[in-house]
Amino acid sequence: MPRVLVLHGPNLNLLGQRETDIYGKTTLEDINCLMQQEAQKCGLELSFFQSNYEGALVEAIQKAKDNYEAIIINPAAYTHTSVALRDAILAVDIPTIEVHLSNIYKREEFRHKSFISSVAVGQICGFGVASYLLAVRAAAEILKNRK
Ligand code: DQA
Repeated sequence: MPRVLVLHGPNLNLLGQRETDIYGKTTLEDINCLMQQEAQKCGLELSFFQSNYEGALVEAIQKAKDNYEAIIINPAAYTHTSVALRDAILAVDIPTIEVHLSNIYKREEFRHKSFISSVAVGQICGFGVASYLLAVRAAAEILKNRK
C-alpha cells in the first residue's frame, strides 16, 4: 500500500481550542482519525507528525525520502515564512500537497503568500477539516496516475 506522510506545523496541536471561529472545534487527533478512515477507503497508509519547530519539520521531510510516496502538509504559520521547508520539499522530490483549514487568501495580506504552493503539486484551502480529506483523495489520485 502506498505510504503517505502527513505533517502538521506549529500550533496545530492546539486545534479544537485555538481560534475556533476560524479553525473549528475538531482536534488534531480527530482530524488524524478522519484522515485515516479516508485513507483506508483510498488504499493509502498514513503516518502523522506534528511539530512546533521548523527544523523538526525539515528533518521529517528529509527522512521521508525513500520511505513515503507522497506528503500532505499543513505548514501553518511556516507557510508564509519558510524557505527551509520549501527547499526540503524540493530536495526530496516527493509529490506534496499543501493543506489549510482556512482560506488564506480571504485573510490578512501576510497570509496570501505561500512559500510552499509553487513547489507543491497543489494546494487545498478553505474547507475546514474537509481540506485534509480532500488532500487524502488528491494523494490517492496522484499515486494512481503515477503507476
Ligand atoms: C493555517 C493558516 C495559516 O495562516 C496559520 O498560520 C495556521 C493555520 C490553516 O490551516 O488555515 O496556523 O495553515
